[in-house]
Amino acid sequence: MMSDALMRENIAKPIIELRHLSKLYKMGNQEFYALNNFDLDIAHNDYLAITGQSGSGKSTLMNILGCLDYPTNGSYKLKSKDVAQLDETTLAGIRNLEIGFIFQSFNLLPRASALQNVMQPLIYRGIPIKERRIKAEQALIRVGLKERIDHLPNQMSGGQRQRVAIARALVTEPAILLADEPTGNLDSGTTMEIMALFDELHNDGQTLIIVTHEQDIAERCHRVIRLTDGCLVADSVNHEIEENYIEQQAEKEEKHV
Ligand SMILES: Nc1ncnc2c1ncn2[C@@H]1O[C@H](COP(=O)(O)OP(=O)(O)OP(=O)(O)O)[C@@H](O)[C@H]1O
Ligand SMILES: [Mg+2]
Repeated sequence: MMSDALMRENIAKPIIELRHLSKLYKMGNQEFYALNNFDLDIAHNDYLAITGQSGSGKSTLMNILGCLDYPTNGSYKLKSKDVAQLDETTLAGIRNLEIGFIFQSFNLLPRASALQNVMQPLIYRGIPIKERRIKAEQALIRVGLKERIDHLPNQMSGGQRQRVAIARALVTEPAILLADEPTGNLDSGTTMEIMALFDELHNDGQTLIIVTHEQDIAERCHRVIRLTDGCLVADSVNHEIEENYIEQQAEKEEKHV
């Protein structure tokens, strides 16, 4: 068991630490920095929006954060462990353990039911089928899809498909949830429903990182960073939302004591 003091120290430490991180792409004899000397700390239970124009490096950053790609230079510590230098197999293992991904285009298996889609990441963990099924059902219930468990992706709306994808990302209980334009294919009503779901996950302690073009989504997040040409040009906290949240959490804790 971890002592309370150690636990507090672990939570106080950033879950993600990037230092002098760069990503260099070479095309023929041209070199191009998609990320340029990037420093960033992300705390436990942060609710972060990444904004910036098309081509500014948002997806490049997400791919590195999600252990899908390597930086060219610099360090990336995930839960205090330097992951920038790991070999591909070890990195894939960490990705499966710590990261949940959500994409704009859902990326569901088209011929698999909602349940089968959500069970998928648990196969790689060697979890027995009965337990896989239970965990996947719980994740689908959590995202409000109890009645759609046996539906195929093409038998569901865009918002429902994205909920399946969120359940699939959640089912492994990842340390961080990464979403690259998760509402890019959804209408504004559905977008707000998905954002409400993200708010709930955040309330339950999840660390969330969301790439978005949309101002109203960025405004719902607690912290917003902005990239320009691979550089971090702004980093601001949404004080009103953050203060409300801290108050709410304090009230919740009082009730539990
Ligand atoms: N594999 C690659 N090889 C060469 N250049 C790349 C590669 N991937 C991305 N780039 C370039 O790096 C830059 C950043 O790309 P990235 O996909 O991170 O942008 P983005 O901010 O996600 O844009 P969007 O909002 O359009 O999704 C772009 O100029 C892109 O052309
Ligand atoms: Mg992108």
